[in-house]
Amino acid sequence: MDLNEAARATLRANDRGGYTVPNGQVYPFQWNWDSAFVALGFDTFDRDRAWAEVETLFEAQWSDGFVPHIIFWVDDAGYFPGPDVWAAGENGIRTSGITQPPVAATVVRMLWDSAVAAGQADTFRPRAEKLFDQLLAWHRWFATHRDPEGRGVVVAVHPWETGRDNSPEWDAPGEPIDVSGVGAYTRRDTGHLDAKMRPTKLEYDRYLALVQYGRAQGWEHHKIAVGSPFKVADVGMSMMMMRANRDLAALGTLLGKDVSAVDRLIERAEDGIDWLWDADRQSWCSRDLISGKSSGFVTSASFLSFYAGIRDATKDAATLAHFDRIGKVVKYMVPSLDPEDPGFQMVRYWRGPVWAVVNTMIGIGLAEAGHDVRAKRVKGDTRTMMNQTGFFEAYSPVDGTGSGGDDFSWTAAMWLAWAG
Ligand code: DGY
Repeated sequence: MDLNEAARATLRANDRGGYTVPNGQVYPFQWNWDSAFVALGFDTFDRDRAWAEVETLFEAQWSDGFVPHIIFWVDDAGYFPGPDVWAAGENGIRTSGITQPPVAATVVRMLWDSAVAAGQADTFRPRAEKLFDQLLAWHRWFATHRDPEGRGVVVAVHPWETGRDNSPEWDAPGEPIDVSGVGAYTRRDTGHLDAKMRPTKLEYDRYLALVQYGRAQGWEHHKIAVGSPFKVADVGMSMMMMRANRDLAALGTLLGKDVSAVDRLIERAEDGIDWLWDADRQSWCSRDLISGKSSGFVTSASFLSFYAGIRDATKDAATLAHFDRIGKVVKYMVPSLDPEDPGFQMVRYWRGPVWAVVNTMIGIGLAEAGHDVRAKRVKGDTRTMMNQTGFFEAYSPVDGTGSGGDDFSWTAAMWLAWAG
């Protein structure tokens, strides 16, 4: 089977009717940013199904605009923590109580452009208009509850919210989290996968302590925004949000909508984003809102500034210098952690492995900024790893072997939409 057909087969196999599971064993529900990326894959062969993926995600939107990171449409004992642990949701739809990186607006803009190019604007206009309103409500929610100081960044209240669950960027901010009351629990992820590819027990204790904290607040976002023991301005989410707002404004303009509120969010982000520039490290890094300290880690998220639309000659040059240095150390770009960092681990989740969706965003950003050779390297490396290994959750930047789950939906989707 050629890889295009294999990628389509992966999406069809993981399709649960209106939504796609990231992987049938490890992640048997709907995940927020997974679904957004998966829609781009479907769009290459089934436009209606692509739109449905995003629409199903927004069916779970809460009345305050929040869009959850997991939607538990079915029961499945193979995942922990399940819906009973979260105890969250609205209108009988069981969800988690935290969100995930805001990539959906960028995706919907791409879906819209693709529908227009295919001469199907009239068919998809009502769906685009409804999604625009839902996306705007979500972005407003972010501006209120995930940027409590109005800095123009995105402040995560849980490592899972960032999508980069065990990045070392969360180590120091996670230290004050009290895990003494977490109690006994059984992890399911390490029943499916080698523990050396997964977060540690201490990290899991912190994840669960934060779930218990949010649940104790009744998932009232205004309370969590103030009192959460974990509040980190995530450079990845902040860059993705800047991009998403630009795409939402462009989409709204094409649809004849009022985009003045989105324009204000873009201005706020442009004014505030330099707070995430670490002058000592000469890199974009996450920053702890509570301690005020920069993480100091160069991660794959550090290279999303081009995708965000930031053009700053000095910072761009420093960022590209990190890119070129890292590119000489690893065979496959872009590792999720600087390979010269002592904590680099080539198969442990977000402490080393390469992720296709992040490579896609980095590659798009580099190409748009005119850094064509580097953009080609990122795409070529991604293509080679998929060709050699199949559609894994992530890949070792050292030898390209698969890490985490196989037959992974968003990886297959990125083959179809970008790398292949
Ligand atoms: C997990 O359970 O590993 C997920 O990443 C949480 O979203």
